[in-house]
Amino acid sequence: MRLRNKLCIGMSLAPTWLSNEGWRAEDSGIEGLYSADFAVDIARRAEAAHMDFVFRPDASALPVPVLEQSFGFSSLDPTLLLAALVRETSKIGLVTTISTTFSHPYTIARQMMSLHWMSRGRAGWNVVTALQGNQNFGLSEMPSSAERYERAEEFVAAAQSLWASFPAEALLVDKAMGRYADTDLIKPANHEGRNFRIAGPLNIPRFPGPRIPLMQAGASAGGVALAGKIADMVFAQTLDMTTALQTRQRLSDAAQAAGRDPASVRLLPGLSLYLGDTRAEARELFLANHQRVDRAQRIDRIRAALGIDLADWPSDRPVTPADLQDGETARNSGHGIILRDLIAREALTVDQLLERPETLASVHWQIIGTVDDAVSTISQWFNAGAIDGFVAVPGGSPRSLDLALEQLLPRLAEAGLFRAAYSGETLAAHLDEA
Ligand SMILES: Cc1cc2nc3c(=O)[nH]c(=O)nc-3n(C[C@H](O)[C@H](O)[C@H](O)COP(=O)(O)O)c2cc1C
Repeated sequence: MRLRNKLCIGMSLAPTWLSNEGWRAEDSGIEGLYSADFAVDIARRAEAAHMDFVFRPDASALPVPVLEQSFGFSSLDPTLLLAALVRETSKIGLVTTISTTFSHPYTIARQMMSLHWMSRGRAGWNVVTALQGNQNFGLSEMPSSAERYERAEEFVAAAQSLWASFPAEALLVDKAMGRYADTDLIKPANHEGRNFRIAGPLNIPRFPGPRIPLMQAGASAGGVALAGKIADMVFAQTLDMTTALQTRQRLSDAAQAAGRDPASVRLLPGLSLYLGDTRAEARELFLANHQRVDRAQRIDRIRAALGIDLADWPSDRPVTPADLQDGETARNSGHGIILRDLIAREALTVDQLLERPETLASVHWQIIGTVDDAVSTISQWFNAGAIDGFVAVPGGSPRSLDLALEQLLPRLAEAGLFRAAYSGETLAAHLDEA
């Protein structure tokens, strides 16, 4: 059973449609990657499609070898990039990513409230604990998952105390009386925890409107527990519907354990969209985009997902469900489930399996097909209660991005699954509408 009436949809500003081979196309626009222009263009078009928010993921380290072939994790600072969108848009939410492992709550509480003021209530914060980057912050190794989540929870609590320390009502701006603020209402934050000691108050008042919605991205028990306590949205990796249903249930349980309504934690998986005017065109786009993934890498992916090593198998040997019974290193991974379903459904040889898009699967839920295919799959997942929406991560080409923004979103609206116009002006209003 679905928990909401309408999908909540975000647009990733990580230029996934330029990743792999995508940036090499004549018209890719890659030259503008380190300017705000490309994000301005997409944010305006995402707003024209009435999306809930644009979203910028981030990393605090640069894996260098990847840069030989693509732009990898090199990028502008996400919060500054979103600040550049404030005056170029007026309705759409602006969700940045900030790691609680490598930052300080006072700085971040101030930055987030500044973005919220400047955008008149449209800021959102993707609270991540990060997977790498310790060497850039004086840490000899990454803190354990438990330590990172403990710090994350304290970090958010400290930021919330700081936001509360200078309430909106304290701001009087009474010109006649010459009274700027009611200082009786401004209180210290007095945060004292294991990781931070912060007196406060914050040097910017709270925005006189709805909250700064929080997103969380992290799938471990600690990540899900944190989401249950604090998140409005969860950005997740769910390659298949079974995993999405399980994740939705885990989030509902975590929300309930924290005394919150399960519907207030929205599950928004990344959705990689390779769209074409025909299925063949979409598939070709996908394969062209992955042309440098060689046979050995494909065999590696199957080994990781299913535990079977096809390296020495004759290329015309059929791969059958019987082959999988004992090989199951990652049996429950989303990629493993997708490959198992495919092998059960179709009689494929080793060569045919290695050619299939499912073998290359992205880190996200993936739809390779027409706009009709996308509408039907999204409706199916939504109606089954597996998702509350998604974060679009279009792949392959600017054309695939165009189809997502200009055809898919209007079609979802026509189907009654998405808004046809904004009724609110803030990110919280968009989220609470559905
Ligand atoms: C879908 C998804 C997106 C993520 N995006 C980011 C990101 O943009 N920046 C970042 O530093 N970490 C990101 N993370 C990492 C998480 O914040 C977290 O550190 C990591 O997943 C380990 O926690 P876990 O064991 O709970 O999954 C992401 C994780 C997931 C699952």
